[in-house]
Amino acid sequence: MKQRRIKIAPSLACADFRNLQGLMEQLEALGLDYVHYDVMDGHFTPNITFGPELQARVHAMTGIPIDTHLMIAEPDRYIERFAQAGSHLITVHVEACTHLDRTLNLIRSFGAKPGLALNPATPLSSLEYALELVEMVLVMTVNPGFVGQQLVPYTLDKIAQLRAMIDGRELDVDIEVDGNVSLANIPRMIAAGANVLVAGSSSLFMEGRSLEESFAALREVVEASTT
Ligand code: DX5
Ligand code: ZN
Repeated sequence: MKQRRIKIAPSLACADFRNLQGLMEQLEALGLDYVHYDVMDGHFTPNITFGPELQARVHAMTGIPIDTHLMIAEPDRYIERFAQAGSHLITVHVEACTHLDRTLNLIRSFGAKPGLALNPATPLSSLEYALELVEMVLVMTVNPGFVGQQLVPYTLDKIAQLRAMIDGRELDVDIEVDGNVSLANIPRMIAAGANVLVAGSSSLFMEGRSLEESFAALREVVEASTT
């Protein structure tokens, strides 16, 4: 099996907003791969986060590609606005899409790369016809809505089955994991086949630790998991 480069996507929803410009400069200096931008609408998810206007401001502050995770109902209504606000990737939830093929094509039509997210209990069979249409599959490893939750353990098997499905079809599709991506869970997630890690309150944005310290520990665990 080909060894994939592990990409790190810091989760903006977990960050300290007091100095956003300074934060973006720190993330760039650390060489992080994406800014993970969680959008929640209080409908698909019980919580609400932020919309396209803030994303446009973040995009103006940094050259880091933005990985937009739409945890919203009727995502088609907002795809153009997020694409214009600088999304590199736009990930929608399979549970939120009635016309999934149309939605994924809509994302491409606005110049962004389509991703597809699955809640913990959503089966991989929902990807049967969509896997060829996406650049990335996001496996939710907690139920979406809140930071600081515990891993849903069966999602590790699901990652491994998804990796086998992708490799079996000889596709080049990333697997992103989102939720409780902690130093303890990262080795298991990578071993199962994940290669994009959403780094939130469980690893990068931790109380009482600088971003640099947390990142050094994170990188060490990633390196140990890939050699
Ligand atoms: C999704 C969450 C995650 C967030 C969680 O519902 O908002 O995107 O990154 O990070 P942790 O689990 O580390 O607090
Ligand atoms: Zn997310």
